[in-house]
Amino acid sequence: MPHRSPHIKTAEQIASIRTLAADLSELLAWSLSLVRPGVTTQSIDTAIEARMREIGVRGPCKGYHGFPCVSCISVNDQVTHGIPNGTLLREGDIIDIDIVIERHGYFADMSRTVSVGEASPAARKLIRTTEECLAYGIASARPGGTLGDIGSAIQNHAEKNGYSVVRDYCGHFVGIAMHEDPLVPNFGKKGRGTKLQPGMILCIEPMINEGTWEVITRGWDARTADGKLSSRCEHMVLITPSGNEVLTRFIQS
Ligand code: MF3
Ligand code: CO
Repeated sequence: MPHRSPHIKTAEQIASIRTLAADLSELLAWSLSLVRPGVTTQSIDTAIEARMREIGVRGPCKGYHGFPCVSCISVNDQVTHGIPNGTLLREGDIIDIDIVIERHGYFADMSRTVSVGEASPAARKLIRTTEECLAYGIASARPGGTLGDIGSAIQNHAEKNGYSVVRDYCGHFVGIAMHEDPLVPNFGKKGRGTKLQPGMILCIEPMINEGTWEVITRGWDARTADGKLSSRCEHMVLITPSGNEVLTRFIQS
């Protein structure tokens, strides 16, 4: 599919987006600290919305093609775009909180999966491997490299561990819109795809499944076709002249 060439950010834009990404890292860490058995994802979203107001940012997911909440919260076999609801979280669930914030026309986007209380060793291994996939993807993001370098690094690590990579959803460029072209696939071949240049900002967000890569999407609801677990984590990565800079941070809370 043809798409606009990726937007190269100016130094001024980068400075604003960097500050926003730091604010989002804190907001996401705070939201993850609310995760425990017995709370609902709806109550977490409501708390996030209130916190957004306090720190002076907007949540552009709310109202985006009718999405009703400021966060996407995907539990267990949900792959992405989970709509926060009144179901109680249970010990051993895994939960991905994905938040986008906007301020003065700049956008930041970040997500992380954690377990609710103690998860099974299998669930913990899936979460850990997904974080490793993201780290390998980031390590491959450099000027002169390509999007295929990132996708192949992620895919190799996932498949080496017996997991599969979701095809139906991808990362994306970001900064002056929530989703900028082109897509950033979590699979692919080294050396293929868009060439990376300093000033590009990418959301790299591997979605890794325990079983099949196939996803069944009905409206916003996107679940693994076999009902097995899916994990995701997402960072915003700026391509710099010497390599890259991760603009978001996983802050332990
Ligand atoms: N961070 C999500 C993504 O990149 C935001 C989706 S918009 C929403 O896919 F409306 F679904 F929330
Ligand atoms: Co994203």
